[in-house]
Amino acid sequence: MKALTAALTAAALLMAGSALASEDLVKKNACIGCHDMSAKKVGPTWKDIAAKHKGGKVEELAAKIVSGGKGVYGKIPMPPQPKAQADSAAIAKWILSL
Ligand code: HEC
Repeated sequence: MKALTAALTAAALLMAGSALASEDLVKKNACIGCHDMSAKKVGPTWKDIAAKHKGGKVEELAAKIVSGGKGVYGKIPMPPQPKAQADSAAIAKWILSL
C-alpha cells in the first residue's frame, strides 16, 4: 500500500512537472516577449500556432522554432532562436498538445 501511494504520488508529480516545464521553457527562452497563450503580441498566440499545425510533426515545428520564419501569420518575421535548440522539441510537443 505504501509503495502504491508512493508510485501514485511520483506519477502525479511527474505530470504536474511536465506541464510546468513547458511553460517554464518558453519563459526561459524568452519566447513570451512575443508569444502569449491567447493574447496576440508580436507573434501569433500559442493557440493559433497549435491550430495551424494540428496533426503536424514535432520535428517540423521544432525546426521552425530554431530557424524562425516569416509570412505565415503576417508581415512580422520571427528571428531564428538557435539558443532554444535543446528545448525546441519539448516546446513543439507542448504547443501541439494545446
Ligand atoms: C522577436 C519576437 C519573437 C520571439 C522572441 C519569438 N518569436 Fe516565435 N514568432 C514570431 C513571429 C512574428 C512569428 C510569425 C512568423 C510568420 O508569420 O511566419 C512567430 C512564429 C512562431 C511559430 C510558428 C511557426 C510557423 O511557421 O507556424 C512558432 C512555433 C514559434 N514562433 C515559437 C517560438 C518559440 C518557441 C520562441 C522562443 C524560443 C519564439 N517563437 C520566439 C515572433 C517571435
